Amino acid sequence: MLKDLFRKKSLEHILNDVKSGFTDAEHSGNHLTKALRVKDLTLMGIAAVVGAGIFSTIGEASFNGGPGVTILFILTAITCGFSALCYAEFASRIPVAGSAYTYAYATFGELIAWIIGWDLLMEYAIGNIAVAISWSTYFVNFLEGFGLHMPEYLTLDYFTAFRAHEQVQELTASGKLTEITDSLKSAALAWNTAPGIGGLKLIANIPALAIVVAITWLVYVGIRETKKATNAMVFLKIAIVIAVIIIGFFYVTPANWHPFLPNGFRGVMKGVSGVFFAYIGFDAISTTAEECENPQKDLPKGMIYSLVICTVLYILIALVLTGMVSYKELQVGDPLAFVFVKVGLKKISYVISISAVVATASVLLIFQLGQPRIWMSMSRDGLLPKAFSRIHPKYHTPSFATIVTGFVVAIPALFMNLTEVTDLTSIGTLFAFVLVCGGVLLLPKDEAKQGRFRMPYINSQFIAPVLFIIGLIVFWKPFLSLFEGADVHERFPFFLFVILSAGLTVAAVIKKLSLIPVLGLLSCFYLMTELTYQSWIRFLVWLIIGLVLYFTYGYKYSVIGREVKRD
Ligand code: ALA
Repeated sequence: MLKDLFRKKSLEHILNDVKSGFTDAEHSGNHLTKALRVKDLTLMGIAAVVGAGIFSTIGEASFNGGPGVTILFILTAITCGFSALCYAEFASRIPVAGSAYTYAYATFGELIAWIIGWDLLMEYAIGNIAVAISWSTYFVNFLEGFGLHMPEYLTLDYFTAFRAHEQVQELTASGKLTEITDSLKSAALAWNTAPGIGGLKLIANIPALAIVVAITWLVYVGIRETKKATNAMVFLKIAIVIAVIIIGFFYVTPANWHPFLPNGFRGVMKGVSGVFFAYIGFDAISTTAEECENPQKDLPKGMIYSLVICTVLYILIALVLTGMVSYKELQVGDPLAFVFVKVGLKKISYVISISAVVATASVLLIFQLGQPRIWMSMSRDGLLPKAFSRIHPKYHTPSFATIVTGFVVAIPALFMNLTEVTDLTSIGTLFAFVLVCGGVLLLPKDEAKQGRFRMPYINSQFIAPVLFIIGLIVFWKPFLSLFEGADVHERFPFFLFVILSAGLTVAAVIKKLSLIPVLGLLSCFYLMTELTYQSWIRFLVWLIIGLVLYFTYGYKYSVIGREVKRD
């Protein structure tokens, strides 16, 4: 039984599946269309990356970290860079849809592959719920600009409205009227004006639902249409981001950059979730491997180019943002638009709101595209029912999985309050990166083939122990207080990190492991330890639900499992 859990899908098996076109009755003859090249992949990467993160969560991160948040953008980019190289290595060796899920199947075996597939669903689904809600906020602002007003109760979730109503009542009763902000007022209005039956009120985020339905339809009708829409949206949003940087630069007051670290390094690290969220997405293009003309060369390039471009844009944006106004004012949901209002450029702030609508829509598009392709891979392997790998005869897209994805994202986006979804998305994604980096370490030695990407090998035998000792010096304080205090359980993630670092250092010395995946694994795990304890618990609950599903369905119907039994 235990051995069965780690049954692997060999690289030959995976590649044979692709060559033979998955010839079982469900989708015989229906291949995905090969339409993507380096340019499209790079644009898709940017489309997935630049979105709610840089338009929204950067505000809170800058508020906590001050101008020093720029350092976090650099550190996160480096971490993502290690992971991108590992993804690239995998993508060039296993050029099939399914991303980290397929990679894990080949290296760690079935159970971990299932966990990672399940985890990626969380990354894309919860991430997309958040993005849809953020899109809705900008869209409502955008309509306001045209004098069109949607009733508040159709633009918000139930609990936000309810809580706002309670809060306004409390503040009014205690005479603290000045603390009732505009956004609080508008949310409470949603509660007070909503129609209802008995105690139950009709309050739902209709624009969030509408955008998910529209995007799901686009993804359903085909990859070519998706490609065209993505390319157009990306050019527009890059142009806007560059314009913000250039125009904003003229309004920078260098005094705002002092002090650079107003809340120390701890303040900067509070922004990990928001900043990492802003980078999520370059990995999503690896789900389109079967739709690439030359995935072994083009996917790695697409991933790395998009990451580099976004990093440069983000660092500049962070500098401009924190230079235009004091970091203390940046705790807002629309920081890019806000700073321009602050310096008296209202019209520009309006253009930014419009572009945020476009930017976040393109993130939705990529994630809605990636999700069904992971489900499809899992279904081909028998871990999910067959319907998930059905390919539409006319549109050549995974039809059933796409529709299910639409429901999974659209319904919660209507009703959920997702203040902490960025945390959850970030922890899920970081975990996927950890496994991808770990997977590269387990890959069999490469029989180098010309004409495809290869990750540079740097021997970690001596570098890893040196870094470990430097780490001990840097982290000696949290290390010594690991078992002290009442909240000792909250330090469990850091404890795991210490154990992992020590184990990996020993392995690096003995096995001369490749340095890039070692650093990728450790840096991603470290960022996970910076996320809240609550996110860890929620993440674990999600994994447990996944395990229950695996043991009740996937374990029994696994294609590899059946083949192993036959042999
Ligand atoms: N990176 C994506 C965004 O910021 C998830 O919207």
